[in-house]
Amino acid sequence: MLQCFYGLVYLSAVLAFATLNGAEAECPLQLDSRRVVVRYGGSVEVNCNTSVLHNGIGWEASEGGVSKNYTQSLITWRVSELTEWGINPYCYINPNKGAQCQIELPVTVYKTPDSVSISTVNNTEPMIEGQQYELQCDVHDVAPVQYLTVKWYKGQTLLHQTTFSDTDNTPVNKTVTLLIRPDRDDDGAKYWCEAELDLGAEGPQHPPKNSSKPFNVEVQYKPQHSSSTETIIKDVKVMLNCTVKANPAPGYTWSSDHLNLNISSSVIKSSALSPGNYTCTARNIMGRDSKVFILKSKERTTFWVIVLTGVAVAVALIMAYLIFKFTFSKNSLI
Ligand SMILES: *[C@@H]1O[C@H](CO)[C@@H](O)[C@H](O)[C@H]1NC(C)=O
Ligand SMILES: *[C@@H]1O[C@H](CO)[C@@H](O)[C@H](O)[C@H]1NC(C)=O
Ligand SMILES: *[C@@H]1O[C@H](CO)[C@@H](O)[C@H](O)[C@H]1NC(C)=O
Ligand SMILES: *[C@@H]1O[C@H](CO)[C@@H](O)[C@H](O)[C@H]1NC(C)=O
Ligand SMILES: *[C@@H]1O[C@H](CO)[C@@H](O)[C@H](O)[C@H]1NC(C)=O
Ligand SMILES: *[C@@H]1O[C@H](CO)[C@@H](O)[C@H](O)[C@H]1NC(C)=O
Ligand SMILES: *[C@@H]1O[C@H](CO)[C@@H](O)[C@H](O)[C@H]1NC(C)=O
Ligand SMILES: *[C@@H]1O[C@H](CO)[C@@H](O)[C@H](O)[C@H]1NC(C)=O
Repeated sequence: MLQCFYGLVYLSAVLAFATLNGAEAECPLQLDSRRVVVRYGGSVEVNCNTSVLHNGIGWEASEGGVSKNYTQSLITWRVSELTEWGINPYCYINPNKGAQCQIELPVTVYKTPDSVSISTVNNTEPMIEGQQYELQCDVHDVAPVQYLTVKWYKGQTLLHQTTFSDTDNTPVNKTVTLLIRPDRDDDGAKYWCEAELDLGAEGPQHPPKNSSKPFNVEVQYKPQHSSSTETIIKDVKVMLNCTVKANPAPGYTWSSDHLNLNISSSVIKSSALSPGNYTCTARNIMGRDSKVFILKSKERTTFWVIVLTGVAVAVALIMAYLIFKFTFSKNSLI
């Protein structure tokens, strides 16, 4: 399979080479560039030469044409400010032997966009978690669109890219849209789009890129605790922390089975709380979420600590007594 592939590549390479040689053999002209890429309003220079005797050589072009010359073997198509979008120059020759022939020079005239901007189609801010929104990227006055790629980013992550099959060589405006369904993690995310002109090997070393300003997304979402209950063993100090993320910032209310709590803070720090269940509810305009703190007494643990300490003290006392008694009786023997 692979060999077959390489075989095909080799065959097409041979064929391409043959065609190239054939074309050159047919028309005894040589251009020093296969293809040129010029910025609109930029300068360009391409040489056309021949090694045969001829009866006239020239450049035909709507800008920078060179009239037929009988004495030169090298002539130059030169434009200092190219301002024609669909220019198709060609170099021609009337060889002494054979018929007139010509070689065309493919020219790509490009222009970076005047502006790249981003907006929402829905025009509603802030966004709501889980709903769908349409972002729009407007690229103004860019050419040629067949080399344009519009890329969508969230932060540094590439989300999507679009290319165009249009063949216009004059500047156009392009609008590209992106559907998003933001979640809570997207709150504060920066979306942006970028227009890139990939002009090929003959183009600028770094493809021209133009970016929109970042579009800051605000997402509203309801509070959501990571767990709905939490067990806390009562210690000298007790802290019940109900703090939870939500946009807009949530308000808090507390309730308990045996206490009347009128607290609006997200955290309760107290040593006076008695064991029991404390329910906290966080809420904002998007919704609410409750969490139960189960406060347990440390009594059981304390009981066992007292028992074990008692046993340890008793053992120590007995051993001390035995050692004392042994030593004393030894002394009395001497
Ligand atoms: C054109 O000029 C180049 C460099 O001087 C030379 O190598 C080449 O053979 C010439 N081409 C023709 C068709 O005479
Ligand atoms: C051919 O080119 C030479 C050098 O640029 C110039 O001196 C001559 O006048 C040209 N001849 C014609 C017929 O244009
Ligand atoms: C935003 O606009 C898109 C496309 O017009 C639509 O599908 C979507 O439902 C809209 N979203 C909201 C929240 O209105
Ligand atoms: C592109 O948009 C600009 C501004 O809206 C407008 O003036 C121009 O005519 C548009 N160009 C094309 C090719 O539609
Ligand atoms: C677009 O980017 C090119 C280089 O990539 C820069 O020269 C040009 O000024 C930029 N255009 C705008 C409108 O920022
Ligand atoms: C409560 O929990 C939140 C989120 O886990 C944390 O940022 C905050 O510092 C905690 N508050 C206290 C007083 O420890
Ligand atoms: C809760 O306390 C606030 C002041 O801190 C008071 O205005 C409000 O009436 C109290 N609510 C209840 C139900 O006791
Ligand atoms: C406290 O909550 C737990 C779990 O939600 C439940 O099993 C227990 O019966 C509650 N205790 C009281 C006193 O309501």
